[in-house]
Order: sequence, then C-alpha cells, then structure tokens
Amino acid sequence: QRYRDPAAEEKMNPFAEQEAWEEHQIGKATLQFGSKNKKKKDDDYEFVFEDQIEFIKATVMEGVNVEQDAVQSPEASAAKTALEKLQNDRKTLPIYPYREQLLQAVNDHQVIVIVGETGSGKTTQIPQYLHEAGYSERGKIGCTQPRRVAAMSVAARVSQELGVKLGHEVGYSIRFEDCTSEKTVLKYMTDGMLLREFLGEPDLASYSVIMVDEAHERTLSTDVLFGLVKDITRFRPDLKLLISSATLDAEKFSDYFDSAPIFKIPGRRFPVDIHYTKAPEADYLDAAIVTALQIHVTQPPGDGDILVFFTGQEEIETAEETLKHRTRGLGTKIAELIICPIYANLPTELQAKIFEPTPEGARKVVLATNIAETSLTIDGIKYVIDPGFSKMKSYNPRTGMESLLVTPISKASANQRAGRSGRTGPGQCFRLYTAYNFYHDLEDNTVPEIQRTNLANVVLMLKSLGINDLLNFDFMDPPPSEALLKALELLYALSALNKHGELTKIGRRMSEFPLDPMLSKMIVASEKYTCSDEIISIAAMLSVGNSIFYRPKDKQVHADNARLNFHMGNVGDHIALLKVFSSWKETNFSTQWCYENYIQVRSMKRARDIRDQLEGLLERVEIELSSNMNDFDAIKKAITSGFFPHSAKIQKNGSYRTVKHPQTVHIHPSSGLAQVLPRWVVYHELVLTTKEYMRQVTELKPEWLVEIAPHFYQMKDVEDATTKKMPRGEGRALKD
Ligand code: CDP
Ligand code: MG
Repeated sequence: QRYRDPAAEEKMNPFAEQEAWEEHQIGKATLQFGSKNKKKKDDDYEFVFEDQIEFIKATVMEGVNVEQDAVQSPEASAAKTALEKLQNDRKTLPIYPYREQLLQAVNDHQVIVIVGETGSGKTTQIPQYLHEAGYSERGKIGCTQPRRVAAMSVAARVSQELGVKLGHEVGYSIRFEDCTSEKTVLKYMTDGMLLREFLGEPDLASYSVIMVDEAHERTLSTDVLFGLVKDITRFRPDLKLLISSATLDAEKFSDYFDSAPIFKIPGRRFPVDIHYTKAPEADYLDAAIVTALQIHVTQPPGDGDILVFFTGQEEIETAEETLKHRTRGLGTKIAELIICPIYANLPTELQAKIFEPTPEGARKVVLATNIAETSLTIDGIKYVIDPGFSKMKSYNPRTGMESLLVTPISKASANQRAGRSGRTGPGQCFRLYTAYNFYHDLEDNTVPEIQRTNLANVVLMLKSLGINDLLNFDFMDPPPSEALLKALELLYALSALNKHGELTKIGRRMSEFPLDPMLSKMIVASEKYTCSDEIISIAAMLSVGNSIFYRPKDKQVHADNARLNFHMGNVGDHIALLKVFSSWKETNFSTQWCYENYIQVRSMKRARDIRDQLEGLLERVEIELSSNMNDFDAIKKAITSGFFPHSAKIQKNGSYRTVKHPQTVHIHPSSGLAQVLPRWVVYHELVLTTKEYMRQVTELKPEWLVEIAPHFYQMKDVEDATTKKMPRGEGRALKD
C-alpha cells in the first residue's frame, strides 16, 4: 500500500479533469473545423465494452501468399484462417466504425488532422483504408514514424494483415535499411528518411498520400517535415496530407496547417487508478522493480501484464538482471514472470517477443523506453509503473554541446503512460513520484526537439533543398535563433557553407551522406588524405553506436584483454574500431571470430551494411575508394578534418579542457586512451553520466588544428604545445 495516496487521488485525479480521459466511451467521429468553431462533442453514443477483443500477435514476420497456396497445403490453409482472423480483428479496432467517414473526409479535404487514442488503429489501418480506396493507384502512401522500431514493426504487422511479404506491397525504410521494392505502395518510414527523400524528389511526386504520424512527438525531423509538406501541398493539389496525433492538442496542428479540419476518433478507455508515492523516491530503478514484484506477487496471475518505463537500454538491462535474480530467489512460490525488454536497439527478432500472448498462469513484465508511450501498442497491459523520467536531448547553443540527460517527463507524457494501462480493461498506474510533484513540478508539455537540439544536420539539409532564409522558414515552433546561428557557424567552419551562407561543393557532397555533418565532413576530407576506405569503415563503426564490444559480467578480464588487443600501440579509439572491422573482414566476416574477441556479431553486421552503403554514396559524390591503412597520421588528419571543433587538451590533474568554449571533460573509462592521457585529443562525442565524458578519443597533434582549420583555430589556441619545453599540462594551458 505504499503507493496509495487516496486523499490526493480523490482531490487530484487528473482523469476527472480532462476531456481526453473519459471512460468507457465510444462515440461518433467528429470533424471539427479549426480551433475557433470547435464543435461540441456528441453525447448520444452507445455504451460498449471491449471485452471480446482478442488480437493475434505478431509472431511471424512474413505473410503468406494465400491465393496461391491455399489449396495446396495444410500450412497454407492455416495461414488463410489466420488471415481471416486478422481481417476480423481489424474490424474490432476503434477506428473501424469511422472508416467511411474518414475516407469521405480525406476525399473532401487536402489536409486533415487526425486525433485518436493510441491503439485505435491510426497507424496500421488508415494507410490500408486509403489503399483499399484506390489512392495507391495514383502513387505511394507514405507514413512516417519518429522511431525506427515502430516503422519496422508496424510495417511487419500491416504486411501480415494484407497477407503479403514484408518488402513487397508493404515495406519500410529506415536509415541504412531499405526494405521496399518496386511493388511497394504502403511505405512506412522514419520521419528522417522522408526528409532525405525530399533531396531526390522535392515535390514527392511518387506519393499520393503522406501521413505524418505520431505528430505529437514533435521530433526534429517531424517539425521540419511540417514546413516542407505544408509547402508542397500548395502546388500539388492532388497530394493528400494527414497529420495524425495521439494527444488532443490538435488545434495547434490545425492552426498551423491553415485551419485544416480535425478528425477525432472517439477512444475507448477504461478507468485508470493513479497511485502516487507519499515521498519522492531516491532510487527509482529499485522502486520500479520492487513495485513490479509487489504487483506480481499480490495480484492474481493472468489478470494483466505490467509495463515499466525506463530511460534507456542500460537501465532496462539492469532491471532485467535484478528481476531475474530476485524472482529466482522466490523459486516456484510465485507464478512465472516473463521479462520482455524493448528499446530501439533491440534486435528485431527479440522485439517480436513483446507481442506474443502471455501464457496461461504467467505474467509478462515489459521493460520499455519511451517507445511504449505512444509508438507501440502492447495488448494486455493492466499495470503501468512510471518512474517519471525519460532521456532527453538537451543542447547548449553557446557551447554547441549536446547531451542526453535523464529529465522529468511532462504531464502530457505521464498521462500517456498512465493511459497504456486502460486499453483493454480497467488499469492501475503507479507513479513513482508524489502527487505534488506531478501538479507542481512537471511541465505541461514536452519541449519540441527542435528547441533543444543541434541543428547543423537540418540546416545542411534545408540549404541543400535551396531553402536559404532559415530565419523565416515556416516552423511550427521556431528554434532559438542562437541555435540556428550556431549551426550556420559550424557548417561554415566545416566549409559546407561559404561566407554568404551558401552551400559549397563540399557541403553538397556532405549532404549526400545520411550522417551528422562532422562525420560527413570526415568522409569527404578522406579524399585528400587518400584513406576513404578506412574512413568509411570508421564512420560505419561509429554509426553503430556503443554496442561493438561486449563484456559479460563473469568474463570481464577476458573481454577487456580482447578489447585492448585492438588498442595496441595506443592508436586511439577510432583506429581501434578500424582494426576491429578490418580484422573481422580478414576472417571473411566470421561469427566465431566475434565470439572469441568479445565482439557483438550483430553490431558488426550492421556496420558492414552501413559501410556498404557509404561506399555506394562515395561513388555518387565521385570520391575514389582509396586505402592508406598504414598511415595512421593521414587517417587521423581526416578524422580531425571533421571533428576539429571537438578538440581538447590535458590539464594538470588529468582532466581535459575543450579548446573552444572551454569546459572540463574527461576521457571515458571505456576508451583505450583512458590510462594513456595524451596531451591533445579529438573526440567523437560527449556524454554526461557522472562526469562529462569524451567517448571515442584519438590523439592529435595540435599543429594539425591550425593546418586543417585555420579559420577556426589560431596559433594562440594551440600555443602551449608548440613551446615543447613546458612540462605536461603547465604553462598557458592553465591560464586559458
Ligand atoms: O496508431 P494507433 O496507436 O492508433 O494504433 P495501431 O498502431 O494502428 O495499432 C492498432 C492495433 O494493432 C493495436 O491495438 C495492436 O493490437 C495491433 N498491432 C500489433 O499487433 N502489432 C503491431 N506491431 C502494431 C499494431
Ligand atoms: Mg500509431
């Protein structure tokens, strides 16, 4: 009972206050025009309970061609039955009764804002309805998702519902992975991928419909897409544009899209009890685990699954381990607890597990990042545990530093999370913070990403689309002008823009790469140092993230030794990554070799795929593939050409100071240089955990900075290094 605070609940139950949280309701869809003449909602709806609904879960990723195989085999007729079942299930979704009204609305209006509860069927059904209504005969139906995992899993689901093979009629496209074909008419993709498509097809001529889904997430790419698609609807009257969102701040979208009508899909919702903690939790991770176990032990098995929100993969892995450990201790005294982690980097085959039905007598606990807040719908959740945090990007335009910080969520997010428990029956939400926190400390809405991120990427993209006047670009919420200027400055420093802010040849080449501008610049610069072969391997390895090496708890020493092998000669982390890649290549991409060296084969395969694509892009920008494996200085200079703004010099106490915009930073303990502490380094990124750490670090000669980026660094910036006599870390460096 430690989480109950009945007094607070009664007084402050947010569900009582919000129109969005009506219980047990199913009503008529309303088409509402603009924010000014908002229609009253219909009250004369029927009262319907949703207790008959049972969904087939996505277990098979590929559909079967039923027409062809039905007569031939028992498997095929089973598949046919499954397909029929799926078709019936489609009809039980909240959106289904409004199919005709929706199609009519799309027919009558060019732009529509669609609002509906998560799980009502917007993402999976609307593109299918439009396909069935013939829109796909005029062009593709594109649907954007903020998250890779959502794009893939939804496409897989829809291909099943249509009984087609994923990648044929239904496909998806995410960065470095294109699962579409000539046949594809329903295309799910990340918002970032649609942005890139503008580069090749500025009017999106091959599309008849664009659905910008999960618009409420307000990712950077979605916000930029808004401006671009709004623009093209003006000269492409045949293009239909749907903006769909899970929350009810639809008026804002409508206002932005010239008072586009709002189509509301009435939700079905069961009551959710909200429980707060009496006092703030010092350790939310532990509190979350304890709460999950309490629920599991005290509530009858089979009455519903648990969904816990964490901030990231590490937390989820820790929680998974702890839960396994503690339930093992309880042995057979408790019902089986099936632990299902879900986060963006989870391998696809493991993702499917969360959609599998929970066996009789067991309970599922889903450990999820924000991804389960709105992008993914998991059926059968009755309990939600919400620690109240998520990892958020934040950006300091003054220093140009970006960091991922664990930040309190907004009220809107907290309500979305709570709502995940009331989808198929009455739910319970355990907030691991106090009611006072909720009402007084949480912001109403999450700040859109565009206002808290580095904009260099987007600015380069817009510049390559010929959009020069960024200060007057039609942003829904404009980014801080400081951040725009910072982005322009960086692109100028990277020589992607000239003095007048116009795209240079280097900038044009850089924009071809779906990478951060500093990485793109590193690749473009590799031409000069004739090491493009090595540099694209490094870029691919860096793009995979920090999942190359693994370090099992019981074999840490072996794993560390294996890792240090690649660091021999203190070559730095970039070259170590290169060595990993080329050694793997030499073994003909052996899986065994990966096992022996404590390297994740899955990450390596992904790096190989990315590298292949980068190789293709090199050809496109006419840079020859040239190798210079033994000249580490050349490779390091190419790296420096992209990352010179990320340079740091050592201080007396072994910490570092960034050269521009001085800030104290440290070499990440996982770096091969963590014990070496070179005088000057260039780093890939900063991560803030207990300290501000540089991750992926390489030693640098300070004179390179002046040689490579004379417009950015002057001699005075690197002077202490040229006066070699001075002992390490002393002299001017301290005064700066
Ligand atoms: O987009 P919205 O949140 O409105 O709903 P949706 O994603 O279209 O999901 C509708 C239903 O499809 C969910 O309730 C799930 O039962 C099912 N679904 C699934 O089983 N597997 C997926 N990968 C996606 C959806
Ligand atoms: Mg959706």
